[in-house]
Amino acid sequence: MRVLIGVIFLSLISFNLHSKEYFPKEIKHFRLVWHEDPATEATLAWNTKREIYKENYCYMSKTPKKGNLKAYELVQRAPYNRYLSTTNKADIGLRYFYHACVFKNLSPSTKYYFVVRSGSHVSKELHFITAPKDPKRSFKLIFGGDSRDNLPNIRRPRRPGINKLLAKMVEKDPSILALVHGGDYVFFGMIFRDFRQWFRDHLLTITKDGRFLPVVPTRGNHEKNVELFNDLFIMHRKSLKNSYYITKINNLYIFNLNTSIAMGGLQKIWLETHLRKYAKKGNWVFPNYHEPAWPAVKKPSDALKHFVPLFDKYQVDLVFESDGHSLKKTVPIYKNKKDLKKGIIYLGEGGLGVGQRKPKNKNSWFLKKPGFAMAADHFFLASMKKDSAEIKVISPQCKYELITRWNCLKTKVIDKFKLKHRAR
Ligand SMILES: [Fe+2]
Repeated sequence: MRVLIGVIFLSLISFNLHSKEYFPKEIKHFRLVWHEDPATEATLAWNTKREIYKENYCYMSKTPKKGNLKAYELVQRAPYNRYLSTTNKADIGLRYFYHACVFKNLSPSTKYYFVVRSGSHVSKELHFITAPKDPKRSFKLIFGGDSRDNLPNIRRPRRPGINKLLAKMVEKDPSILALVHGGDYVFFGMIFRDFRQWFRDHLLTITKDGRFLPVVPTRGNHEKNVELFNDLFIMHRKSLKNSYYITKINNLYIFNLNTSIAMGGLQKIWLETHLRKYAKKGNWVFPNYHEPAWPAVKKPSDALKHFVPLFDKYQVDLVFESDGHSLKKTVPIYKNKKDLKKGIIYLGEGGLGVGQRKPKNKNSWFLKKPGFAMAADHFFLASMKKDSAEIKVISPQCKYELITRWNCLKTKVIDKFKLKHRAR
């Protein structure tokens, strides 16, 4: 028994070392963010403490260079070197600087090897794969939200266990490109303190061969400090700063919307303008936002009033929601009724580690069969092809073990279904 415990303990330590060994302690909270055009653009960002290093650089190459800085094909001096926007008392002592490079004109469907440097501190080489720009190429994305810790689970958050599972999934299936996060990363999102652990935990998604999982960010209600959110995910440019924007990959248009600001007014006008432009025959349109229009737990957000009529009008393909901390799939809904022909399925509602709630609205008409609602950790795997898409509803089966803590490597496929293009 003692030997067994020893083996488990050592394997746990080696796993954590493998994820942490890529960054020296001076290079903190590394993230790789995708925004509008991940086939050709990628943002690399990290934090440093105590001093602004004069030299902050990113290095990228299509072939591995093993950290030989002179050998990298693309070199960028980080254009972002600023204080993180947090003056909250709770963040006293955490005066970080953030640094970021934005690479443009990258080649689609290409493995890029990279390192980042602040002063003499250099990361180990990691890599990621850019999104395709070729309709014939299929790809997969993970959609999920609410990776935050919460009471009473605050001492036992399941996020690290689920992140290790994501690493295993990407190792097995390299066509999984990124995590589209539906918001609520941490409990105290208005300050930076909690985010430190989120970024550390995200390193657990690194595969054994050093592949880093990009994040497509969406803003949740816990990300109360918009300046901080924009600093963390480098959302400063005009098209990103209000946290509603489109991520385009081949013929897929993910409409990342913001339920933490007015959903009517300017956002609604923007939504209609862009749905009119992109919700065309042969395109996939997936809105993704935090607070549900068709909730399993809470009351509907303003998304029901402002977004849903436009989803109906422009016949979006599938909607991702978060926030409720319950797994749900609605019946296909059109004009507030079940409609098997023109109806839209809403999936949700946040299960990347947060404690799950009982779905209070389970008996509502929109969650009856073929819909469902239950308390279960979850995320969605979207397999995208030019003319068909398959969605898997996956529930990590997490078990708390004294030494290894959360083990979520077993999964259950709760549901899977196919989508065909709508007659728009
Ligand atoms: Fe939320």
